[in-house]
Amino acid sequence: MQKIIISPSILSADFMNLETEIKSIQEAGAQWVHIDVMDGHFVPNISIGVPVVKSIRGKTDMFLDVHLMIENPQKYIKSFAQAGADLITFHYEACATDVVEVIKLVKSFGKKVGISIKPNTEPEVIFPYINELDLVLIMTVEPGFGGQEFMHDCALKIPKIREIAHENLIIQVDGGINNLTGKICTSLGANSLVAGSYIYGANDYKKAIDSLR
Ligand code: DX5
Ligand code: ZN
Repeated sequence: MQKIIISPSILSADFMNLETEIKSIQEAGAQWVHIDVMDGHFVPNISIGVPVVKSIRGKTDMFLDVHLMIENPQKYIKSFAQAGADLITFHYEACATDVVEVIKLVKSFGKKVGISIKPNTEPEVIFPYINELDLVLIMTVEPGFGGQEFMHDCALKIPKIREIAHENLIIQVDGGINNLTGKICTSLGANSLVAGSYIYGANDYKKAIDSLR
């Protein structure tokens, strides 16, 4: 069976008890922690920044999957890398003319690199960079908020990317993922699922995570 990487989004966690919330998903079998960084410009919301990533790094050995929903990602990559991110995913739409430079910058800190595309962005725009990437993140909602409804059309981008991907490319989906929509995505070729409200809104995190696999 294909190995699916589950990356719970702490955007839906209880921020007053973040340490416990992260330990709980690890005990429940998640491998990654998805950290949503929002700047109030690229998306109409503000969330987590560098100091929180640093604090999380100090308390867990889990793989930190940092999703930058910010303008000018190149300005902040060094800070997030030094704070302890393991993977840095930036948005194609935030730096369409400097994609190669941004990829190189993330790699220069020895980190894994991902590109994300919003619902209205065609997957073909990232084809030229695919061999340089560790991950492609397909947004299945408009980025900015947890708890939105899954956009089915976006999932149809998955096979288009899988068709031209190198064998180690991780295809991740984010937004509206639950036990049903997650299965749609994995059957189309995704191998990493981000889920915020579905996991953190559940009474039993392990049951929720198991139901995604
Ligand atoms: C949305 C974020 C997501 C969000 C997902 O902009 O990128 O990671 O936390 O939340 P759910 O799983 O509730 O749709
Ligand atoms: Zn995200």
